[in-house]
Amino acid sequence: MALILGIESSCDDTGVAIYGTPTSNGQNNHSAHLLAHVKASQINTHLPFGGVVPELAARDHIKHISPLIQACLAEANIELSQLSAIAYTQGPGLSGALLVGASVATALAMSLDLPVLGVHHMEGHLLAPMLEPNAPDFPFTALLVSGGHTQLVDVSRYGNYKILGQSLDDALGEAFDKTAKLMGLDYPGGPLIEKMAAKWHENPLKASAEPIKFTRPMVNRPGLDFSFSGLKTQVRTFYNASDKSEATKQQIADAFQQTVVDTIVIKCQRALIETGHSQLVISGGVSANQFLRQRIAEKIASNKVKVFYPRLEFCTDNGAMIAYAGYQHYLQRVDNDELAKDYAFNVKPRWNIETLTDSV
Ligand code: KG4
Ligand code: ZN
Repeated sequence: MALILGIESSCDDTGVAIYGTPTSNGQNNHSAHLLAHVKASQINTHLPFGGVVPELAARDHIKHISPLIQACLAEANIELSQLSAIAYTQGPGLSGALLVGASVATALAMSLDLPVLGVHHMEGHLLAPMLEPNAPDFPFTALLVSGGHTQLVDVSRYGNYKILGQSLDDALGEAFDKTAKLMGLDYPGGPLIEKMAAKWHENPLKASAEPIKFTRPMVNRPGLDFSFSGLKTQVRTFYNASDKSEATKQQIADAFQQTVVDTIVIKCQRALIETGHSQLVISGGVSANQFLRQRIAEKIASNKVKVFYPRLEFCTDNGAMIAYAGYQHYLQRVDNDELAKDYAFNVKPRWNIETLTDSV
């Protein structure tokens, strides 16, 4: 029985949410659930710069974080005094942005005499599908595809994560963003590439166009690692030599998307064989991509393998996943009597998810 306020501020979205079991008159008459979640996006702040400007991100978090906490409490109809703990994203992410969430969470916890819990951002993404009515059970294989990470993870239980493979260079979201930027599209480029690619399929020029064939990265090599920087070079070379017309951009967006999604599908199939799992979780910003979801549905989902995603708004960064992960940490630590109220804090801009195994 616990109620957790979760704060996300690792990059360019400020998210706040409350997850758990509210009590009234000391009686717990609900099962754990998401009570409220609110978010402020910084897209307009960073748009003129074509990418996230870390210092501006931190300032934006400062501006939004307190009003969002108040709005979230109001939406959930919860008083601060009803909370059991405060969870925040401790890393990985931009250090200035992380520090805003860490300092606000710690100060609030200290003033309320509550425990404070540092959550790993990618653990939040990985557990986000648990917020859905049809949630996966342990164990499962997770594909995490965001702006900073591309990882296949073997998940045996809460807090026990083994990386099976990961990107050796650009993350998948970053590859989408760089392809978009090359062709003069705004940031974040992932959703715009998806739209451009869809337009190609409606374009009458498609019928007579010579297909573009990019090499699918790393599929002929064994193992579960990814690499997207060679593809980036292929796309740049092709684009620079092209007529740069709208139709060409659409066709490149489509070819790029097909190539990376093919690679993802092959690696997921391999990972499922290696783990023997019958459940695949896909989360992180790129999991919002409908073409990816469609291909996974065609090639992987079956009566032997079930695939799980977060709802669309929880694919990208949000407070709900941090409140949920914080809730699980809280339950585990309450059981082990490990909920120290230590208000010294640090952030972890680089943080390997495998190291969580010992701490939870
Ligand atoms: O998880 P997220 O919000 O932040 C990080 O933890 O990085 O992921 C953001 C990334 C961006 O690179 C963005 O372009 C990508 O996710 N993204 C998409 C789509 N929506 C967001 N990429 C492809 N298709 C989409 N629909
Ligand atoms: Zn993220």
